[in-house]
Order: sequence, then C-alpha cells, then structure tokens
Amino acid sequence: MRKRRIMALTMASVMALSLTACGGGDTAETTAADTATEAAGDEAAAEGESETAEAAADAEVANKDKPLVWYNRQPSNSSTGELDMAALKFNDDTYYVGFDANQGAELQGTMVKDYIEANIDTIDRNGDGVIGYVLAIGDIGHNDSIARTRGVRSALGTAVDNNGAVNSDPIGTNTDGTATAVQDGTLEVNGTTYTVRELASQEMKNSAGATWDAATAGNAIGTWASSFGDQIDVVVSNNDGMGMSMFNAWSKDNQVPTFGYDANADAVAAISEGYGGTISQHADVQAYLTLRVLRNALDGVDPDTGIGTADEAGNVLSDDVYVYNADERSYYALNVAVTADNYQDFMDSTKVYEPVSNQLDEAEHPVKNVWLDIYNASDNFLSSTYQPLLQNYDDLLNLKVDYIGGDGQTESNITNRLGNPSQYDAFAINMVKTDNAASYTALLSQ
Ligand code: BGC
Repeated sequence: MRKRRIMALTMASVMALSLTACGGGDTAETTAADTATEAAGDEAAAEGESETAEAAADAEVANKDKPLVWYNRQPSNSSTGELDMAALKFNDDTYYVGFDANQGAELQGTMVKDYIEANIDTIDRNGDGVIGYVLAIGDIGHNDSIARTRGVRSALGTAVDNNGAVNSDPIGTNTDGTATAVQDGTLEVNGTTYTVRELASQEMKNSAGATWDAATAGNAIGTWASSFGDQIDVVVSNNDGMGMSMFNAWSKDNQVPTFGYDANADAVAAISEGYGGTISQHADVQAYLTLRVLRNALDGVDPDTGIGTADEAGNVLSDDVYVYNADERSYYALNVAVTADNYQDFMDSTKVYEPVSNQLDEAEHPVKNVWLDIYNASDNFLSSTYQPLLQNYDDLLNLKVDYIGGDGQTESNITNRLGNPSQYDAFAINMVKTDNAASYTALLSQ
C-alpha cells in the first residue's frame, strides 16, 4: 500500500539514474538511487494516505513497475559474461538471485584435486602415470557452466589462458594431449610427479538444442569409454544431472569417481556408492531469496527484511550463506562442498533452510500472485531441487505462484505464456539464454 506510493515516487529518480547507469554497476549511482528510495519512503510515510487512495494506486501499478526477480540465469552477454545492467535495473524492485559462481567453481576444482591426492595410490587405473579425466560441459554460453569448467581446469593445472581468462572451450577428444584449449597439468604427490590430462570434453546439448542435457552426457561417456575407457580415471561434470547420468551409465560399475555440482538428492545419496562429490549451491537459500525479494517489494518494506535483518517472524540469514552486491543488484548464495565426509547432512535437498522457515502472518502480508518460469521443465536441478524448495517457501511467504515450465530451447515457448502480465503482482524469471532479458522486459513494458 504505502509501498505503491514509494514506488511511484522513486521510479522517476531511479529511471533517470539508470539511464546513465546502463552498461556498468557504478557505486555512486547505486548509492544515489538507494538514498532516493529512502528519502521518498519517509516522505510517503509522512503523508499518511487513506486506504481508498491506496487501493486505487494498487490497481494502477503498471506491469513495468512491478517487482521482478531474475534467478539462476543472470542477465548477461553469453559470450563475454558482461552483466546486462539495463535488465538488472529494469525498475526499482528488480534483483537477481543466484550463487557465487566463482567461489563454487574454485571449490569444485579443489574438491576434485583433493580427491585425487588422497587416493593417489589407486586413482591411476592403467598405471600409465597420466591421470585422465573427462568433462561434461553444460552450456558454453552460461556463466555458471563457464566458471565450473575454468575452476576444474585451474585446480588441475590443465587451464590455458585466453585473453586474460581461462579458456573454457570444449576440446572434443584429446587422448594424445595435443589440444590447444587445454594443456597437460602436473601434480606432485608424495614425491612422484603425475601428468593430468583432460582426455575429452563436450557441451551436452541435445539435437533439439536443450543444454545441460543429462541423456547426452550418458551417451557421451559410453562413446568415450568404448574408445579410451581404461585411460579415464576421473569423471567431472558441470552439474549433477549430467554427472549422475554418466555415473549410472558407466562410472559406477567401473568404480571411477564422478564429480558434479548442485547436491541434488540422488547425487548426494550416490556418494555412498562411489560418486566422488558435489557442490551445494545453497538452493535452500536461493529459493528463499528469490521469493523474499518479491515479498519485500510487494510489502513496501526495507529490502533487507527477513534477509540480513530479522523480520517479525524471526526469519534472517547470516552472512556466511549469502552476499549482496548492490552494484550488480544481485544476491549470491555461497557454496559448500559435499563429499564422503559430510554428505549425510545434505541428504534432503528440498528441505527449507531452518533460519528462514517461519510462516509470515497473512494479515500483515496478504496473498499476492506471482508468475514464475523455469527455463526447462526437465532440468534436473531446477525441477528436483529448486522448484520443490520454491513451493515450500511460497506458502511461508503467502505468495500464490504460477509455475511455468519451458522446453529449455526457445524463449518464446515461455514468453508466449506471459500473455496477461496484469493478472500478476510480481514476476520471477529464469531465461533460456542469459542474453534474452529484453524479450521479457518488452512484454512488461507494453
Ligand atoms: C545449475 C545447473 C542447471 C543450470 C540451469 C545451474 O546453476 O547448476 O544444474 O542446469 O543452472 O540454468
């Protein structure tokens, strides 16, 4: 109610600021926008509007002014990774929720390296002195996928520089070590020097265009294993969906440690059967933040409510599980490695995070309608971990969410189902391609 007024007052100033802020997060501008928000808020509070006027304002909120959260795929250029600040600052109540891709990628690389070192006596299956691994790449244009490929190559010494960043291109096969996008690494353990080689890597995209495709990864490991199986000592994947597909198709039977990312329940359970490990991207925190930023904007309260500052129900996150980057308008959950040492604590991947599990009072936080899409209804992580979590939190936060599942291939498959944005109070968007934010904001701006 009061929030609508705040929004109306701040929109003008923020729009003006974001005109100059396009293309890069500038601290000074963000701070100025924040200050404008606070000042406007005070002014609105002092005015003490009547209920009738507020109700009228509510009905009039333009779609372009409604709270919007991008999640899981950060609006950015898929070739350069540069953030799409126009999308991230679409309006005063726009945010991104994801996780710290670089911190997680480094963890994944370290986890694999630590495993190799700890198991050096048995890891080199054919005893040729070369520790060979294969790598399943999710989506060559997805920043999380790129970061993970880089993290693994950096930790294992196979990284090659490409214009100041680690080359993240797939190499096809490289059993002879001649590929140029990677190099042979060396690892010294207990006085012995081993060569580490990326034997093969491929983007797991199916013929229809869906990326992170588990079935494609299952087929790839079959092909690789039949031509150079005895050289494969480690299997690494950009996510658990593909990792588990490779594990079930080949590595489990051949006792080859396989590493993924996401801490999906099936992958965590497989650690007791030889799956090497995975990374939890704290989906329980991300799913909460995805809906919480909308709830706060709809309530017109301080954006930090129930996040860094406890709400009246006691929900609060500690700063060891997330960071907020104001310049990027982005919340990032922090990652945790899940291995044989601690996997028991991660068995239930869809359980709400205890510190933010308290029900909001419906009188204070009335039910609101949210449109939310998932870029690919068959993405393992999003469908088996993230969506169930969102469904737990939507009740706690009194949000009525319509879940729209895309085909993972075309943006229009999803945007076609945003035919009547006026029916909704807020939007949560998971794009097929990180470059495509404008296809959504255009619909909201109409
Ligand atoms: C997850 C992947 C998922 C992808 C979809 C990543 O953050 O780790 O498992 O397929 O997001 O966008």
